[in-house]
Parts: sequence; C-alpha cells; structure tokens
Amino acid sequence: MSKCLDRSLSAARLREGGDPESRTLVSRLRGNERSLSRAVLLAAGIAVGVAALASPALASEKKLNIGSAATAEEIAGWDIDIRPDGHGLPVGRGTVKDGEPLYVERCAACHGEFGESAGRWPILSGGNNTLASHDPVKSIGSYWPYASTVIDYIRRAMPFGASQTLTNDELYAITAYVLFLNDIITSEDFELSDKNFRTIKLPNEGNFFEDDREVAEKAFWRKDPCMSNCMPDPAAITGRARVIDVTPEPGQAPKVE
Ligand code: HEC
Repeated sequence: MSKCLDRSLSAARLREGGDPESRTLVSRLRGNERSLSRAVLLAAGIAVGVAALASPALASEKKLNIGSAATAEEIAGWDIDIRPDGHGLPVGRGTVKDGEPLYVERCAACHGEFGESAGRWPILSGGNNTLASHDPVKSIGSYWPYASTVIDYIRRAMPFGASQTLTNDELYAITAYVLFLNDIITSEDFELSDKNFRTIKLPNEGNFFEDDREVAEKAFWRKDPCMSNCMPDPAAITGRARVIDVTPEPGQAPKVE
C-alpha cells in the first residue's frame, strides 16, 4: 500500500475512534446519557492534555525521527528575554548622544525622527495623558509598564527585517535615545548600561497590577455560587436604545424560558 493511502486510512481510523479500546468508549458513550458522555469526554480530553503537559517524558519517548535535539548554543540563541528585575540584561552601554545617529539611520525611516511614526508605522513616543480619553494613544511613554520591555523588544525584533543585528552597545544607545524621545531620560549625556538600567522607571508602571480578582471578586468565587434570583434589588432600566426602540416596556418583555 502506498504511504499516502496508508496515512489517510489511519487518519480515517483515528476519526472513527482510533484503537478498539477507545472505539468501545465512543460507542458506549453514544448511549442515553449524552450530557454525562460529554462530561466524560471533556474530562478524558483534559486528562490527556494534563498528562501531555505533566509528563514531557511521553513526548521524548516517542521517536519521530525528524529534526534533531536542540544544542545548548541553539537554546541560548532563543533564551534572550530581559525581565523587569534586570534578568537577562546583556553587558553593554551607550549614551543618548551615541543613540541619535544610530536611531536616525536604523529606525527613523519607519518610526519617524522623533518617534512620531512615518506613515502608518507604529509610534514610539507621545500620547501622554491620553489613556483615559476618547482616543487613547499607547506609546512607550504613555502606556508601557517597564523599560525592560523596550530593550527586550528592540533587541529581539528591531530593526524590522534585520532583527538581532544591533551590537549590545548600539542596543543600549538606541534604547537610551528612545527613552529620551519619551522624556524618560532627560539628559543627552546620560549613559545607559546594564549597571544602571534598573533605575529607569516608566510613568505608567503604577497602573499595571497583579490580577486581584481572586480577592476583589471573592464573593463570586465560592463553592455554591448563586444561580437564580441573584440580584439584591429589582432590575431597573437605566437607558434605552431609542433609535431602534428595542427596549421593551415594563411588563411587555417576551418570556425567557
Ligand atoms: C522597516 C520598518 C521598521 C524599522 C526600520 C524599525 N521598525 Fe520598529 N517596528 C516596525 C513595525 C512594523 C513594528 C510593529 C511590529 C509588530 O507589531 O509586530 C515595530 C515595532 C516597534 C516597537 C514596538 C512599538 C509598540 O508600541 O508596539 C518598538 C519599540 C520599535 N519598533 C523600535 C524600533 C527601533 C529602536 C528601531 C531601530 C533599531 C526600529 N524599530 C526599526 C517597523 C520598523
């Protein structure tokens, strides 16, 4: 049998429920208790997912004979994240002054000389105090929480189309210049380096906080959540879609089963 046919047959078998054991499971589940069967399938699916996550050994035991194991050097090439606590900062330094000509040469064509953007490329500066307005402008200075995200992003992904071509000193100089464009660094002589990087704070950091729903919505997360008549007061209509008049008059609403 040709390989191709062989593969489509086994795919068809898989669709039918795979091996005999799971086929019995499927046919048994076709019985009366449909909702239960769904729950069982869901649980089985979750179990398979959890098992796959929990035991990486499973994946490595199965030899597919494709690709090759990643070398330590290859892993190091991907493992370049820089975190807010300074983890991963490369050794290097550069001043705002050093950064300006580099930025003009390697970034300005897309992001504009002052980070204002050229055409429809993303802006890198501006938008201060616009977050609560009708048209929020999210830039590094107006929105981003951490300076580490800026240097990580530039190091990882920019210049667009030639990413990871900046030397570490160029990276610090350009990052310093971008922070200068955002009025976060204010002196052109400031030298940014792996030593002082952690002192740089972005203005919007305070507006980012850990997900606190477990505490803030504690009343909701209980064993026996309210499932009927849960509103403390009767519902009141506070606004009407007047133009198309879709809000029913009190007492005339269709019955919801
Ligand atoms: C050829 C055009 C081009 C050049 C040159 C370029 N960028 Fe970008 N940049 C982009 C595009 C496109 C994005 C958005 C990418 C995305 O969202 O996936 C971007 C995104 C960014 C962002 C994130 C903006 C945001 O708010 O999401 C930063 C920071 C940035 N670039 C910095 C730089 C720096 C610094 C340089 C020079 C070293 C540079 N870029 C060069 C096109 C460019």
